[in-house]
Amino acid sequence: MKVLVVDAGGRGNAIAHSFSRSKRVKEVFVAPGNGGSEFFEKCTQAKLDGKSIPSIRAIDEIVTFAKKMEIDLAFIGPEEPLSLGIVDRLEEEGIPAVGPVREATILEASKCWAKDFLRKIGVPIPEYRNFDNPEEAKEYIREKFENGIVVKADGLAAGKGVYVCDSVDEALRAVDEIMIQRKFGDAGNRIVVEERLRGIEVAFTAISDGKNVRPFGHAKDYKRAFDPDDVEGLRNFYIGITKKFVTKSEIEKLFREGKLLNPNTGGMGAVSPHPDVNGEIEEKIMNLVVEPIIREFRSQKGIEFRGVLYPVIMLVKEDEELVPKVLEINVRDCDPGAQVKLPRVESDMAEISLAVIDRRVDEIEIKFSNDICVGVCAVSGALKGREGLKPGYPADHYTSQPITGIEDAMREGMVYANGIAKDDGFVTTGGRVLTVVGKGKSIDEARQKAYSALSRIDFPGMRYRKTIGLDVPE
Ligand code: AMP
Ligand code: GLY
Repeated sequence: MKVLVVDAGGRGNAIAHSFSRSKRVKEVFVAPGNGGSEFFEKCTQAKLDGKSIPSIRAIDEIVTFAKKMEIDLAFIGPEEPLSLGIVDRLEEEGIPAVGPVREATILEASKCWAKDFLRKIGVPIPEYRNFDNPEEAKEYIREKFENGIVVKADGLAAGKGVYVCDSVDEALRAVDEIMIQRKFGDAGNRIVVEERLRGIEVAFTAISDGKNVRPFGHAKDYKRAFDPDDVEGLRNFYIGITKKFVTKSEIEKLFREGKLLNPNTGGMGAVSPHPDVNGEIEEKIMNLVVEPIIREFRSQKGIEFRGVLYPVIMLVKEDEELVPKVLEINVRDCDPGAQVKLPRVESDMAEISLAVIDRRVDEIEIKFSNDICVGVCAVSGALKGREGLKPGYPADHYTSQPITGIEDAMREGMVYANGIAKDDGFVTTGGRVLTVVGKGKSIDEARQKAYSALSRIDFPGMRYRKTIGLDVPE
């Protein structure tokens, strides 16, 4: 079989790696892929007329490539091509694809729609209201603010449209940024304002053929940019952003006063399985969240959701019981969650995908090993260069920095590239650069392997969190 994985990052390389372990699979192409797509046996970066595919949005080129190479099966990683209808286009050409059709991406593409849908079908969610008028939203915020509030742009905003707010002022500013300054364009025509929940956050995934749905593993995703005690890291970031020098004692004072914001990112690392999720909780999430979504989406909208469903869950304690409440729904797998889940899949990834296509997900076994995987992201951190000091990911950062030690690291762990290119050697191309994964019988062993592998790698400005896998406040 020839498989095409559509993705540009670490998730896509992990998906490709999992397909490469299937006896049925001869070749795996990754489009557009990156400089790390060829780290694994059978895996190649897609080339059309000798050139890489320009981006995940280049649907025409990707479909042309799939036709030309006679691809037997495609697996789509990110939401953008899905919401541009890549699965519809591939299916028109007779190429089976794992991923929802365009109409089904509304679950992720409109947060307002998704919230109304979940409420209607009785899935537990935080208290919320949707607004298209900023003044009304502000009134609601002033009225409802108790323990924090979250303001979200309705549409796709590359993971940046969510503001978790500690004060009324912060929430009012979020409304202005989204609706008045229109920081995310039309994605901010409407917003959701919701109660801030406190609990245990879980990146939960399931895979569905539209009728049947099975658990597809879970992970704990570490989203804060810095370890909770990394005052020096926060200081460099802060200086990079404000371009104002601050002393150590000044920054420590700001930190103590809670005035230093530890920014949210797309993910700085992950551990799978999620240490707080047992079989009973998994069953509860399947019964209360995943199954109703798949069933009701089909019966109310008349659309089958085929692919990976990734609800972000907050486990909230109510009357001594953990209730799973949905924060967001994603119509694809998680990054970096996939990099720690997929190396644990013992079943054949091609078999799983074919079962999705043939609508017999109920008939197959999806088995995960009992091993634990810890993945740590190496990111482009604060760096002084030709354009002065840049704060680093998740803000402005330098790219094109030479990377050393990848081959050495691969002897100790798995290296999934998020943003690298291969030239003479490897160079950085993005904020998140690599996800380095260690696998072991315990979290300690997996952590030790991941960090040991990571210690072989270096590039100017490289930064990573030291607490991935540990139970630290996020
Ligand atoms: P998203 O990228 O849309 O998944 O949201 C970003 C992050 O914001 C989530 O992973 C949570 O950590 C946080 N978040 C979103 N909604 C809430 C909420 N209602 N309460 C607390 N945290 C939230
Ligand atoms: N790590 C968050 C996401 O994949 O949406």
